[in-house]
Amino acid sequence: MPLITEIEDLRRLYRRRVPRMFRDYAESGSYTEQTLRENRADLDRIRLRQRVAVDMSDRSIAAEVLGRPVAMPVALAPVGMTGMQAADGEIKAARAAEAFGVPFTLATMSICSIEDVAAHTTAPFWFQVYTLKDDDFMRRLLERARVAGCSAIVVTVDLQIMAQRHRDLKNGLSAPPRLTLSALADMATKIPWGLEMLATRRRSFGNIVGHAAGVEDASSLVEWNNRVLDPTLDWRRIAQFKQWWGGPMIVKGIMEPEDARRAAEAGADAVVVSNHGGRQLDGAPSSIRALPAILDAVGDRMEVHLDGGIRSGQDVLKALALGAHGTFIGRAWTYGLGALGQGGVSRALEVIAHELDLTMALCGERRVQALGRHNLILPQGFEDPTVPL
Ligand SMILES: Cc1cc2nc3c(=O)[nH]c(=O)nc-3n(C[C@H](O)[C@H](O)[C@H](O)COP(=O)(O)O)c2cc1C
Repeated sequence: MPLITEIEDLRRLYRRRVPRMFRDYAESGSYTEQTLRENRADLDRIRLRQRVAVDMSDRSIAAEVLGRPVAMPVALAPVGMTGMQAADGEIKAARAAEAFGVPFTLATMSICSIEDVAAHTTAPFWFQVYTLKDDDFMRRLLERARVAGCSAIVVTVDLQIMAQRHRDLKNGLSAPPRLTLSALADMATKIPWGLEMLATRRRSFGNIVGHAAGVEDASSLVEWNNRVLDPTLDWRRIAQFKQWWGGPMIVKGIMEPEDARRAAEAGADAVVVSNHGGRQLDGAPSSIRALPAILDAVGDRMEVHLDGGIRSGQDVLKALALGAHGTFIGRAWTYGLGALGQGGVSRALEVIAHELDLTMALCGERRVQALGRHNLILPQGFEDPTVPL
């Protein structure tokens, strides 16, 4: 077993273990991938202020999210099809998150179903919903989440139509995978992945297949999404979800202050500043640069979280110091899962927690709640996304 000291180690292992179709799905952004790159590049542009001779004993990275204690303010973002990155992937990730003490978000487009994840965990998890055209199906999904004990819904508002990711189209991404000759040839080199996949019965979209009328096989993800996603989604409908659900609602995919205000009016308890990990509007600014204006708009009214490009505890610290209440990670835990299953997700969380703790100490702070702008050196114009850096 190689020594894993950073997320990049997990990514390297991941690339060796997981078939190309699913690797491409996880690593790609839309179109030219400019936004995907900038999510990372802009985090890298922020510098940290080193402070010395400060008592660094008795530190804690523990926090609260939506009124519940968490080991650190980092949640597992919804990632579709993770049951294809590793067999029973969503169950493994949810168990790792539970053991670590951070929230896990199950995607609508997961392989393991809501009920399956609930049966294999004890901590409540969050359920991500896309807005689908079929109201009855939406209400049933929310009801299933309630029965499963989910403690919040995460309503993703930046994917009512799907942007194009070139490689997914070229690979014919689907679950179960479409076995073209080149996909088969690639999978033949991924023996442990294949054996685990053969041993599980969970190989299709567990929340949908067999639950939505007429859907026996989700076939091509792209084609299916385009068929079922509701292009008419508006704020009235989002307020309706809050009413149907009745519990905490996190609105994910906010990049503009005005949209954050509207989310608050629609009943959101939190927003996630997110450009979907660079997978939707290519050309949008990085999420970290969109954060300050959104904090100014709604930071005193609700929790503001951030995702996009977080690969280390240093990245988490930068977001927290800018004022985010917490962060979500997407690819970082997906790499861990594909690399080493449940243990890999645990390792990803350990790595990030360790980095966050040490970096906080070297910044001269002992609590994540004490982090602030005073810990950062921001490039000129950083807070105004119209200024090129
Ligand atoms: C492979 C993959 C699948 C995703 N699927 C979903 C999804 O089903 N629902 C959703 O709301 N977001 C989805 N996202 C977006 C993530 O929730 C999150 O916004 C993004 O991954 C954050 O960026 P990061 O990967 O750089 O951490 C997905 C992201 C990836 C990489």
